Amino acid sequence: MRIVESIARMQQLTRSLPRPVVLVPTMGALHEGHLALVDHAKKLVGRKGSTVVTIFVNPPQFGPREDYRKYPRPFKRDCLLLQNRGCDLVFAPTAANMYKPDASVTVMESQLQTVMCGASRPGHFVGVCTVVTKLFHLVQPDIAIFGEKDFQQLTILRRMVRDLNFPVRIVARPIVREPDGLALSSRNVFLSAEERQQAPLIHQALRDAENKLRLQSVSLRALENLIRRRIERASRAKVDYVAVVDPDTLQAKEPRNLPVLLAAAVFFGSTRLIDNVLVK
Ligand code: PAJ
Repeated sequence: MRIVESIARMQQLTRSLPRPVVLVPTMGALHEGHLALVDHAKKLVGRKGSTVVTIFVNPPQFGPREDYRKYPRPFKRDCLLLQNRGCDLVFAPTAANMYKPDASVTVMESQLQTVMCGASRPGHFVGVCTVVTKLFHLVQPDIAIFGEKDFQQLTILRRMVRDLNFPVRIVARPIVREPDGLALSSRNVFLSAEERQQAPLIHQALRDAENKLRLQSVSLRALENLIRRRIERASRAKVDYVAVVDPDTLQAKEPRNLPVLLAAAVFFGSTRLIDNVLVK
């Protein structure tokens, strides 16, 4: 497995990588959710192609009061995990090399980013779209894989690829969970024992809402309130948002017509967790 830090070297290698090239962009601190994406990449590349994983904690997608500095960076461990999963190349540039101090060009999606995480984290998705554009240019993948855990990110990146004609196919993969239902996240390590114990309530609340929805007709507001109240039973939880939306437009939608996305963002102390359930 090659480990490349230099941008110039990556650009040089890109030209000679055996195709198809399948890219899995990450910020590192890898867990089984990330590794499931890598396993799927391996399947898609077959015997001949190349699996590329990027590890880059991207400063512009963090708000001023967010956890950029304390975001975990176990780089050696990440590389070992990727090597064991048969990854071909790790691209891990430094922030100083990725962004010139006077960088002034960004990529902004303007509709889908106005709601949910985009509303709570201004500028976050401009940071995501800009870095993913840069990574696409540097690696020039045929396919890029993203997790449904970050459903809004996935929707926005699909829109970006469509609207800007990137020659990349976006593939989505399901959320990987702990046995108790908590979605795997690099941020779970920040949870105290008590918070960790309460955190699966997010998924339980979304699942309960899904079950209710399947059994009886229930309004958007009633469903949102149900999810919110259920999560707030956890003494450590502070709900950031609960959303009942159309999975394509991310606009609020009466859940009588499926499909509908049930999504939530919840603070446990200063740790912000997100989760969702797509009801088809
Ligand atoms: P990161 O949070 O490291 O996630 C990298 C990829 O792993 C994303 O596509 C995310 O949806 C997926 N992922 C995370 N947890 C998952 C889980 N439990 N199950 C399935 N997939 C999961 O998302 C980012 O990084 C960044 O925003 C990035 C796209 C790399 C741009 O900086």
